[in-house]
Amino acid sequence: MTAHAIGGEWLFGHTIGIGNWAWGDRYFWGDRARYSVADSRAAFETTLAAGITLIDTAEIYGPWRSERLLGQFIRDSERDSGSNKAIIATKFMPLPYRLGKDSLRRALKGSLHRLGVERVALYQMHLPAGPVAIETWMEAMVEAVQEGLTAAVGVSNYNVDQMRRAAEVLDRHALRLASNQVEYSLVQRNPEFDGVQAACAEMGVRLIAYSPLGKGLLTGKYTPENPPHGLRGRTLAGKLAAVQPLVGLLKEIGQAHGGKTPGQVALNWTIRKGALPIPGARNARQAAENAGAIGWQLAEDEIAALDEASARLR
Ligand SMILES: NC(=O)c1ccc[n+]([C@@H]2O[C@H](COP(=O)([O-])OP(=O)(O)OC[C@H]3O[C@@H](n4cnc5c(N)ncnc54)[C@H](OP(=O)(O)O)[C@@H]3O)[C@@H](O)[C@H]2O)c1
Repeated sequence: MTAHAIGGEWLFGHTIGIGNWAWGDRYFWGDRARYSVADSRAAFETTLAAGITLIDTAEIYGPWRSERLLGQFIRDSERDSGSNKAIIATKFMPLPYRLGKDSLRRALKGSLHRLGVERVALYQMHLPAGPVAIETWMEAMVEAVQEGLTAAVGVSNYNVDQMRRAAEVLDRHALRLASNQVEYSLVQRNPEFDGVQAACAEMGVRLIAYSPLGKGLLTGKYTPENPPHGLRGRTLAGKLAAVQPLVGLLKEIGQAHGGKTPGQVALNWTIRKGALPIPGARNARQAAENAGAIGWQLAEDEIAALDEASARLR
């Protein structure tokens, strides 16, 4: 990366964020009845009140509904407080019928409209899929930065080679690749083994950890007797029994830190691994609890013990 490459350094100033996939989703989480729009709004407000400002969303969540809800919450909080503290990261989905650079600009304009803002802080490629080359999408991203529609460019679910290809295009325009958002938690440690974590460190790219609570598995509230329902429940069913010893260790370590919860310990682990977790809080209580994952540190021997317990899941 050239020394003068700019864009995205600010992400290193964020220790934790929040993800809002579940706020608008109808299919994967399958539990609209359990959480209301008021709950999502309370999660948003509690997160900002705790000083956590990075909010991750995507056009595909809902679809569109998660962005719309976030836009509505931002407008309402702006009206009540006179300022907007939310720093928005959203994503472009390279759907198979999106065949050219213009489609990225159109999609971004759509996101900005739903969010009710003139620019986002971070625009991310959601997946490295579809018929269009990574290089073409990155050229479109460069134009979006030049037009002032996004401050920084990120990718998601990219492997090391794909990251390097994206960074190379941005670099030619004196822009840096700001982030790679990948699944990373005590139940999904691929970034440590596939080179992504090392490449992020080498390239100065922020590793954003999605599903850092293992979609709820690491909070300790789900067991084989009490599984999550809907599609998520079916996806996680095979892991519920195996994860219990790890949850036991998270509880034990949390006790040694003055009663931290398993989820707080799991989030602190991702932070200590150099990543920026974006847990999906559903209501005020969860948002407040997740905010308590920062401001303290797991010890090296605790991290080693968690690594060992999680390795038994592989
Ligand atoms: N780039 C990508 O491809 C991609 C893919 C997946 C996710 N993401 C991003 O990452 C974000 C987070 O990931 P995620 O939502 O999949 O999984 P997650 O953060 O690992 O888990 C979220 C679930 O954990 C539970 N939870 C959260 N905080 C809790 C607390 N304090 N106490 C108890 N339970 C708590 C909730 O379960 P209940 O619903 O049961 O209460 C919630 O639905 C998403 O919102 C999205 O922004 C990105």
